[in-house]
Amino acid sequence: MDDFFSASNCPAMKNKGPGNCLYAYIMENIDLGIVILGLKRHEIIFKNKFASELFQDAKEKLGYKALMTLLLPTYGESSHNEIIGKTNTLWYKNRLLGYTPYMISDDFIWIIIRDITERSRLESIAEAVNSMENTSYIFSGIRHELGNPINSIKMTLSVLKKNLAHYSTSAVERFVDRAMTEISRVEFLLQALKSFSLFENPDIQNVHVEDFIKRFISLVSNDLGNAGIKTNYVVVPPVEHISADPRLLHQVILNLITNASDALHNCENPQIMIRAERKEGFVAITIEDNGIGMTEEEQTNLFKPFYTTKQRGTGLGLMIALKMVTLMKGNMEIKSYKDIGTKVTIFIPEGRHDART
Ligand SMILES: Nc1ncnc2c1ncn2[C@@H]1O[C@H](COP(=O)(O)OP(=O)(O)O)[C@@H](O)[C@H]1O
Ligand SMILES: [Mg+2]
Repeated sequence: MDDFFSASNCPAMKNKGPGNCLYAYIMENIDLGIVILGLKRHEIIFKNKFASELFQDAKEKLGYKALMTLLLPTYGESSHNEIIGKTNTLWYKNRLLGYTPYMISDDFIWIIIRDITERSRLESIAEAVNSMENTSYIFSGIRHELGNPINSIKMTLSVLKKNLAHYSTSAVERFVDRAMTEISRVEFLLQALKSFSLFENPDIQNVHVEDFIKRFISLVSNDLGNAGIKTNYVVVPPVEHISADPRLLHQVILNLITNASDALHNCENPQIMIRAERKEGFVAITIEDNGIGMTEEEQTNLFKPFYTTKQRGTGLGLMIALKMVTLMKGNMEIKSYKDIGTKVTIFIPEGRHDART
C-alpha cells in the first residue's frame, strides 16, 4: 500500500489504541459501499464489506478494471470536474445505486456507494401522493364547473316558477332554453370526464400507423370539410407500426384535431396536416394547424385542468390526451406561434414490423 495510507499519515490511525480499531470497524461495516482505487498502480486499495458483496460476480469479485468501467466509464476522457464530486446512478443486479467519487491526492479515488432502490420507490410513492393532490384539485374544479350551470338552472327555474302565471309563452320558452343550454354544458363536461376513467388499463397492440390515420381521417373528414378545413397526412418511411391502444390513440388524436379545428375558426385557408415519422425508437405523430396559435405565456397553462380560452371549452382535452399518451409510454410536445399556428407532437413507442393488424 502507498505511503498515503500508512498509519502515520492517516488521521484515523494517529491515535493508536482502541480508536483506530473503531474507525476500521465502522468503515468495514457501515451501510454504505466504500471503495478506494489506486490510479497509479491500477489496484483496489480498499473495499468494505458492503462493496465486496455488491460487486461480486457469479464467478469472481470485480477487479480494478471492471470497477473503473462500471463506475467511472468516462475517466480519462472527461475532465476531473465532470466526474469528481458528482453523484451518479447505476442499475446493477436489480439494485439502483447512487455513487459519488472523490479524489484523495492525485492518485486515489474514493467512491461512496449507496443503495437507493428503496429511496427511489419511496419517491415514486411520493409522486403518486402528489398526483392524488392533483386529484383533489380536479374534484374541486369539477365541483366548480358543475356548480355554476346547476346554480344558474336553479335560478332560471325558480324565476320561471314564480312568474309562470303571467309570463307569455315566448318568455317561458326563453327561460326553458336558457336552462337547456346550461344542461348541455353539464352533459358536455360529463362526456369529457368519461374519458378519464375509461382507460385505466391500456390494451397495447401493434397498430399500423397509416391504416389508423386513414381510418381516423375518414371518420372526421365530414365535420372538418363542413368547416372548410383541408386535411392531409404523410407517413414517412420506414414508419410502419406503433405499440398503442387504438382506443386511447383515437381519443388523443380526436382531442388534438378538435383543438386544431377550433383554432382554425375564421382563419384563411384553414389546414390540418398529420405527419408520422420515426424518432429514436418512437414514432412522432404531429398534428399541425395554421390557426390562431398561442403566445409563450398562453402555452404555460396548457396541461392544467380546466384551463381554457373557449367559451364552451372544458380545459380537459390536453390533460386527458397527455394522460393517455403517458399510459402508452409515450410523450407529448407542443410548439406554437401566435397567429401562425400550432404543432402538437405525440411520441408513441415503435411497434413490430410484421403483417398488418
Ligand atoms: N391547436 C391549438 N391552437 C391554439 N390553441 C390551442 C390549441 N390547442 C389547445 N389550445 C389552447 O389550449 C387550451 C386548452 O385546450 P384543451 O385542454 O383541449 O381544452 P379546451 O379545448 O376545452 O379549451 C385551449 O382552450 C386553447 O386556448
Ligand atoms: Mg380541447
